[in-house]
Amino acid sequence: MICAGVVRPVQYSSTNASVVHPTADGSMMVVNPLITPSARSRSTRRFTAGAESETFTPISAYEARASADNNAMIRWSTASMRNDSPPASKGKSCFGRPSLPSLYLMSHGERLPRERMYLMCPPEHFTVEYTINPWMDTTVPVDAGLALKQWALLRETLTDLGHRVHVLDAEPGLPDMVYAANGAFSVDGTVYGARFRYPQRADEAAAHRRFYQSWAFAEPVHVNEGEGDFAYLPEAYGGLILAGYGFRTEPAAHAEAQEVLGRPVISLRLVDPAFYHLDTALAALDDRRVAYYPGAFSPASQRVLAQLFPDAVLADRADAEEFGLNLVSDGRHVILNTQAMAMGEKVRAAGYTPVHVELGELKRGGGSIKCVVAELRP
Ligand code: ARG
Repeated sequence: MICAGVVRPVQYSSTNASVVHPTADGSMMVVNPLITPSARSRSTRRFTAGAESETFTPISAYEARASADNNAMIRWSTASMRNDSPPASKGKSCFGRPSLPSLYLMSHGERLPRERMYLMCPPEHFTVEYTINPWMDTTVPVDAGLALKQWALLRETLTDLGHRVHVLDAEPGLPDMVYAANGAFSVDGTVYGARFRYPQRADEAAAHRRFYQSWAFAEPVHVNEGEGDFAYLPEAYGGLILAGYGFRTEPAAHAEAQEVLGRPVISLRLVDPAFYHLDTALAALDDRRVAYYPGAFSPASQRVLAQLFPDAVLADRADAEEFGLNLVSDGRHVILNTQAMAMGEKVRAAGYTPVHVELGELKRGGGSIKCVVAELRP
């Protein structure tokens, strides 16, 4: 598929942070987080001229907010980095804003975002010093500073879209802890804890467990890697869990999750080592719809997915290899990495708004956007 956008670095700073260039239709993606707010405002506006009127044009998170606020003011990274655990109680109190700014932009037929709460862990100790998936190459050094900047821009993108991001402190000796999605899986205030397959990551489970102090927490018996292998669709069939197995999570953990969380769990067998976690091959686009790459699943699991999700957005192998399915969606904005341009076009054709964020350094560990963002479902 032909990419609609021309992506190239246009504005290097001494820090190597990259800027994504505007596409031919006047839209853009994420801007340099390191330029000043006023400079950012000018550059973003220049690059996104006309974006406000293009309902389904890819926009930056910043631009979404600036447009909605109607005064182009930047809400410059106001969230503080804390290690606090949100209350597990239900209710609206956890979200300060009454609605996403984007709601003001709604017109008939547009997709509705839902405010989310996320957990992320900064790549302060990120390295690739062992190989537990095919993407990890210990011979290529990681640029830890760049990884941290890319991670910070993703976090800021999520908060700029109106979501709340909690931050888990990184721990030395746990280089993969940045992949926060693997630490647990929560549904309606109940947390099913993780139990990692490889000893190198085992201690991450305890760090996540401490975060969920005020939640109903179930310690797992079986190996499972949290949201890496579990996805939740609250509006599909009354609330459905999709679960992957074949490389990391044990099938027995699927039954365990069903007992803990009280939702039907659909087991899907992953067959391609390049797509070793479910979240590398399938993503929730909203509360009932998924995108997936069929070739990552066994033929029988492909039939199951086709039966349950006839309206799915189908990705191809190139999309999956670009980690285009390793996305985070709020039901309207779909956050993808900047390599996944073709996948961005596919979700746009399905009515969503792609928001591209550079996260290349974290691909070295075998993960992208979704891997570093756990959704908290109080
Ligand atoms: N290096 C990590 C591992 O192999 C990457 C985890 C990616 N996380 C994810 N949710 N797919 O475990």
